[in-house]
Amino acid sequence: MTVSRDTLRAALNRLPRVKLADLPTPLHDCPRFSEAIGGKVRVLIKRDDMTGVAFGGNKTRKFDFALADAKAQGATVLITGAASQSNHARQAAAAAARLGMKCVLVNRHDHRSQMGIQGNQLLDNILGADIHLVESGDQNGVKERVAAELRKQGEVPYIITGRATALGAAAYVGCALEVLDQTDALGEKPDFLCVASAHGTHAGLALAARALGLETRVQGYSPSRGDEGRRKEGVAEVGNEAAEVLQLDVRLKADELENTDAYVGENYGIVTQAGLDAIQLLARTEGILLDPVYTSKAVSGVIDRVRSGEIPAGSTVVYVHTGGTPALFAYAPELIAHGDYRQKIVKG
Ligand SMILES: Cc1ncc(COP(=O)(O)O)c(C=O)c1O
Repeated sequence: MTVSRDTLRAALNRLPRVKLADLPTPLHDCPRFSEAIGGKVRVLIKRDDMTGVAFGGNKTRKFDFALADAKAQGATVLITGAASQSNHARQAAAAAARLGMKCVLVNRHDHRSQMGIQGNQLLDNILGADIHLVESGDQNGVKERVAAELRKQGEVPYIITGRATALGAAAYVGCALEVLDQTDALGEKPDFLCVASAHGTHAGLALAARALGLETRVQGYSPSRGDEGRRKEGVAEVGNEAAEVLQLDVRLKADELENTDAYVGENYGIVTQAGLDAIQLLARTEGILLDPVYTSKAVSGVIDRVRSGEIPAGSTVVYVHTGGTPALFAYAPELIAHGDYRQKIVKG
């Protein structure tokens, strides 16, 4: 059974939350970008890169809900971690600062962190996170060890999982509701909702579309390679956990979802030429920055599908920009090598 927007909004509003994100994020019309990719579709960009906490991004919306639990438990230190250029970790460090907590990041000492302190990792440091870079072995084990140490010191540690969660997906039901209000105001109906995700963010948008009975096609663009069936099952699973949390009758089915890894290139975290082209094109037509790991690859996919007609002429495409832009600085070598920079030294 489908529900109304008000019912969905009320279900979301029943969940405890802390207010970190600046919502609603803007929805920007992108006529010059639309023209540059053939002029046959209208592209609107939902600016979740502007959620407001230290360069923004999709995790801040998730933390609005996830950290209400940390607060309720009287947590004094947030512990999380992922890759050294993790947007999740940087937003956690910023959220901790905003909530008056300390933050310990247990990140990987990976290729990027060995290149020097830049991008998200630089921001993690500025934000005052205590950073552990794990050379090899079990990051979760280190998190547990850190938590035990902190407990001995009288702190109340709270480990935030980097995995997709029901609350993260629920947060993106909220994003979909915002998009619909904003497209209403423009007299538009989104035919496509496109996003860089193979987890909670995709799940939340897909759940909202299903619960509201929308005809909108929700397309996830995975940042990493993997078995398509398993990816979709993962999205359906977390979406259905969110449906339970929100007490919705509807359920997602894996085979009804759209999630592709066709635009990943070699692998997660390795730039593609098409992704770098997308960064330049959107920057130069609309002044909007994409990131090298997630959103540039997703937008390269949107561009490809618009040009090929797979996203048909006449469509309205809402691209949900999930952030990640601080990583641009950590990827300067690749961006510079990509070229077409118009910088020269002149005599004054
Ligand atoms: C910029 C950016 N986009 C997309 C994603 C993917 O979101 P999800 O984990 O919900 O699939 C992430 C996750 O880290 C991200 O940092």
